[in-house]
Amino acid sequence: AAVRRYKFELRNTPYTRLCANKTMLTINGQFPGPTIYARKGDLVIVNVHNLADHNITIHWHGVKQPRYPWSDGPEYITQCPIRPGTNFTQRIVLSDEEGTLWWHAHSEWSRATVLGALVILPQKRDDYPFPKPQAEVPIILGEWWKSDVQQVMEEFLRNGGDPNVSDALLINGQPGDLYPCSRQDTFKVTVEYGKTYLFRMVNSMMNNIMFFKIANHNVTVVGSDASYTKPINTDYITISPGQTIDFLLEANQNPSRYYMAARVYASAGSFDNTTTTGIIEYAGNYTPPSSLVLPTFPDFNDTAASIAFTNQLRSLASRRYPVNVPTNITDILFFAISLGTVPCPILDQCAGPAGNRFRASVNNVSLVLPRTSVLQAYYKNISGVYENDFPDDPPFPYNYTRDAVFGLDWAIENGTDVNVLDYNSTVELVFQGTSILGGVDHPMHLHGYSFYVVGSGLGNFNKTRDPLNYNLVDPPLMETIAVPKNGWTAIRFRADNPGVWFMHCHFERHISWGMGMTFIVKNGRGQNAKMLPPPPDMPKC
Ligand code: C2O
Ligand code: CU
Repeated sequence: AAVRRYKFELRNTPYTRLCANKTMLTINGQFPGPTIYARKGDLVIVNVHNLADHNITIHWHGVKQPRYPWSDGPEYITQCPIRPGTNFTQRIVLSDEEGTLWWHAHSEWSRATVLGALVILPQKRDDYPFPKPQAEVPIILGEWWKSDVQQVMEEFLRNGGDPNVSDALLINGQPGDLYPCSRQDTFKVTVEYGKTYLFRMVNSMMNNIMFFKIANHNVTVVGSDASYTKPINTDYITISPGQTIDFLLEANQNPSRYYMAARVYASAGSFDNTTTTGIIEYAGNYTPPSSLVLPTFPDFNDTAASIAFTNQLRSLASRRYPVNVPTNITDILFFAISLGTVPCPILDQCAGPAGNRFRASVNNVSLVLPRTSVLQAYYKNISGVYENDFPDDPPFPYNYTRDAVFGLDWAIENGTDVNVLDYNSTVELVFQGTSILGGVDHPMHLHGYSFYVVGSGLGNFNKTRDPLNYNLVDPPLMETIAVPKNGWTAIRFRADNPGVWFMHCHFERHISWGMGMTFIVKNGRGQNAKMLPPPPDMPKC
């Protein structure tokens, strides 16, 4: 395996979109940031220099970092921020990941502009489990605010309600033809008739699950979250923030220009209802159409369409790509993931429901970040930073998905609690969505692991009946999964990566409201079952 080195410089960079200028945080002046290329099993070393005026941390989303949480990146969970004028050398330890992942800032809302793709190719002697494509194209879905994202966040935290929705959606940093002052920079891919292309798509959105389509073409999904899937022929894709989807496009239509486009899937609340476009342009001589036709999308709130796509994902489950779902489960966890409210500091003056302010919780605990990192406190035995008692179940059972009466269901508690797992324990975790304040999907993401998605359904999880229908044969291996609105999702993993690992909803507004928790996976016996020591340049708290 090779060692690859990159240098990241965080800078304030001027940008123009939608006929307006602003200055924003970027890596190396690029937006989206630089794509990192590596092969399976490589070690990538990135020296991150903070040349801006804002704290930063960088997370390598989907990289397991075996026994090495020190470079994982979530602020105040595994590290303190890299302060302006300082640097931190991060080690991205690749192991079994192969496919598309990404990296992003994990400090307040700075990931809106500080992000990029991480492409992990097979080892030199290996091929893809599909015919070699003619070319590979990263596609990063994102969103744009005309105002400074830091201000959007601060205003949102102050007013206690929903954040302002974005002003544009983006494909590879460009809004596309349908927005003002954007047409000439629309992202374009040139294809040759008869050839097949691999698209590596990342949803880097702050707050939206997306529908993606290409006009006139079906695509074949072949991977998600750096793990291959059985091929799925489909005319649309659903992709959660945090998730990646790899798909093949065969250029098999009349040579012409066609739109690729993305819009929001939103099951509740206000959202940006604009459409971002890019162009697939066939090479050759033809008269291009004077205007392009948008593909027809599912409705914005088409939960069934969103779920139907996700439910098709299956592991290859072949001899070369075997499935290792734990079957003897030692730890059963049931996490109710819920929105809620707390009283407004100034009575009735907040923009949340009934003049209160929004919070969100897992099993009634709403995450408050500590001032030093949980990882440092764990490693150095510093007490008073977190508590060891994150609940395995909600405080009391109730009907999670009935029409909840606002305010009656439960009172959220603030806390910095961790759930401690023994090394090699086999975990089944059921996420249960609730309808407190109205149901909404939650794309849940676990650091340090991938997990098998063994089941999912609508309504309340039934612990005697639902496990009978689990897929233990070819469940998809993911690290971000959208728990459906008013439904549940069951995942399994083996806790064989000692360290401190964050788990949270990948909607930025929900994590800001506290929808996250931390696992500590203890060391096992033997040298290879123990966390490695910290690097000397770990940022100071
Ligand atoms: Cu993609 Cu904790 O993040
Ligand atoms: Cu959420």
